[in-house]
Amino acid sequence: MAFRQLGESQATPYFSASLHLVTPPAPVSARGASSNSPPPVVARAPLYATRTPLVRPTTVSLTLGLARASPIQTPSKPFSTSFRRSIEPPVLPKSHVAEHAAHGEERVMVPKPYVLTRFRRWRQTFGRFTLFVILTATGAFLYVTQAASHPPDQLAADSTKPTLVVLGSGWGATSFLKNLDTEEYNVVVVSPRNYFLFTPLLPSVTVGTLEPRSIIQPTRFISRHKKRKVAVYEAEAQDVDPVKKTVTFQDLSDIRGEAGSVTIPYDYLVYAVGCENQTFGIKGVPEYACFLKELSDADKIRTKLLDCIETASFKDQPESEIDRLMHMVVVGGGPTGVEYAGELHDFLIDDLKKWYPEIADRLKITLIEALPNVLPAFSKQLIQYTESTFKENKIDVLTRTMVKDVKEKSVVVQDANKEIKEIPYGLLVWATGNTSRTITRNLMAKLPQAQTQRRGLLVDDYMSMLGADGVYALGDCTATQYAPTAQAASQQGIYLAQTFNKLGNKAKLEKELSQLRASPDAPTKAEQIEATLKKLNRVSKLSPFHYSHQGSLAYIGSEKAIADLPIFSGNLASGGGAAYLFWRSAYLSNLYSVRNRTLVAFDWIKVKIFGRDVSESKCARFVSSPWIGIIEITAQAQ
Ligand SMILES: Cc1cc2nc3c(=O)[nH]c(=O)nc-3n(C[C@H](O)[C@H](O)[C@H](O)COP(=O)(O)OP(=O)(O)OC[C@H]3O[C@@H](n4cnc5c(N)ncnc54)[C@H](O)[C@@H]3O)c2cc1C
Ligand SMILES: NC(=O)c1ccc[n+]([C@@H]2O[C@H](COP(=O)([O-])OP(=O)(O)OC[C@H]3O[C@@H](n4cnc5c(N)ncnc54)[C@H](O)[C@@H]3O)[C@@H](O)[C@H]2O)c1
Repeated sequence: MAFRQLGESQATPYFSASLHLVTPPAPVSARGASSNSPPPVVARAPLYATRTPLVRPTTVSLTLGLARASPIQTPSKPFSTSFRRSIEPPVLPKSHVAEHAAHGEERVMVPKPYVLTRFRRWRQTFGRFTLFVILTATGAFLYVTQAASHPPDQLAADSTKPTLVVLGSGWGATSFLKNLDTEEYNVVVVSPRNYFLFTPLLPSVTVGTLEPRSIIQPTRFISRHKKRKVAVYEAEAQDVDPVKKTVTFQDLSDIRGEAGSVTIPYDYLVYAVGCENQTFGIKGVPEYACFLKELSDADKIRTKLLDCIETASFKDQPESEIDRLMHMVVVGGGPTGVEYAGELHDFLIDDLKKWYPEIADRLKITLIEALPNVLPAFSKQLIQYTESTFKENKIDVLTRTMVKDVKEKSVVVQDANKEIKEIPYGLLVWATGNTSRTITRNLMAKLPQAQTQRRGLLVDDYMSMLGADGVYALGDCTATQYAPTAQAASQQGIYLAQTFNKLGNKAKLEKELSQLRASPDAPTKAEQIEATLKKLNRVSKLSPFHYSHQGSLAYIGSEKAIADLPIFSGNLASGGGAAYLFWRSAYLSNLYSVRNRTLVAFDWIKVKIFGRDVSESKCARFVSSPWIGIIEITAQAQ
């Protein structure tokens, strides 16, 4: 208990919550005043915040303890008027104290309880709620990221379980693996790339809107979170023997050990190798054009683009050569070609004009499409909207124009009037669709009676490959009624994983049933057998694959996107800024992990603040792999 004399001007002793050194003042008795002095009126003050007298005037410290409520002392200046008002005890009016002092009364002043107005109460509640949300979200984020980066122990491989080989690490294979219960299988994944690539955002990597690593997720991250160990091999499957039920695969990476090729048997094979770029056998395409399918393709485009611009800026470069180098040609008006052209336009407007003002205006983008319009799979209004947006953005769209030949510095085209023209280019991006991989064609050739489609593998409604026992195929490598999209491949992956989970459960229940039947008679045995049979019946029923179309989205540049969305039994076609926001949020939420979402969101913010990086890929490699980068840069300097 501490009582203080009113009018005392010294600093009072109190406890400070801050770490400021507070010198205690000389003790003053509440009754120690001279007989001339007015009798003290003391007040017990509640806990409150004030400015510590010993600290700099601007410094605020939260003080817990007992302090005076002095009518004579000038209240310290408010450090935050609103905060102070709500917590400071009321200052007693001078006249009030003087009156009591004159009557020689000693009164204990109890400060009036502070009444919160409705607005302040709302503000306080809102503040607490906001704090709660921030703390909960931070906690959840930390929990999820830490749980993801600390995978649990896994069950070891079990030779009594069937071997399930998965070929590929793309949309189909990854969604299969993610949803598969691996407890009942020994799973082996074989793919030449050891990561999953989020292809819808790949065009953004070609101009540096996104960093390559933001849109990939290591396959080992996925496999390490499964119940039973999954073997992952970075290798390319060379051959599938559907009769002997074996797969041969080979390590084709730059660094190879003594063991480079191996053949393994499988009980089940999930075939999801995707497809490769269609060239229609046009000469010069593989040598001179850039594809846009893999991460390395996007990196190559980015490097070549910047190289073209730097070469065009070279001293005394002839005008005609500047025009050629600054001409970016995209072949194929499907979504890949359109999205790339849109991203390139953004790069020109946002960055090129800033960093290469002298030649930025010379950059020309041409999109060549054999059909009468771009984006044949989208609604008519969206096709028109895209073409008019491209016109506004000065992207030349040459429809009814077919590329016939590709040379080192020019493409030969046949235009709408059947005239042959030669168009010079600096960078050529080839996006004319898909064709089957060699391994797929070889597999089909082994089953000529069942596999009759050149487009891809024929499967039944359960994704089982026709003519092959234990082989299931999904994604772009199949010839189905569905478009070769990520959406279809991932839904097929989920469906197939559910099928395998059912098959695994079925095997488990059959084992249980035979054990039950062999067990000694017990009063509940018959009931247990019946219950197990019921469960067995349920998991044995497989329903066919059903595709649910969620809509089509594409980015067309200058912060505009197009969206074809199925609504009830109709379709909603929308294009512009709102569709762009929808496009961004849909892809952000569809990314594989919290890590991917965080990196992509940061990349978008980074580009908004700093713009895109216009340095060539040696620097980009330095960013993603510091040690290799240092070696490269050192080697260059020598
Ligand atoms: C730039 C771009 C943007 C796209 N945007 C969209 C979009 O917005 N929405 C949409 O729905 N679709 C989009 N797509 C299409 C989508 O990416 C494909 O439909 C999807 O990737 C198909 O999945 P998949 O599993 O069949 O094949 P992929 O995802 O291509 O995976 C194939 C896997 O097989 C591996 N592989 C290859 N050869 C072998 C071998 N011999 N042995 C073992 N493994 C092998 C590959 O390394 C890869 O991991 C886009 C495609 C591109 C190129
Ligand atoms: N945002 C999205 O939804 C998205 C994005 C990219 C890809 N995808 C999907 O991936 C698959 C492949 O898409 P894509 O855009 O690579 O290919 P695509 O098959 O959709 O389009 C290729 C285009 O190239 C044209 N073409 C072919 N040969 C030509 C030639 N010699 N000269 C000029 N034009 C020629 C074709 O007429 C066709 O329009 C499609 O199923 C597509 O739906 C979807």
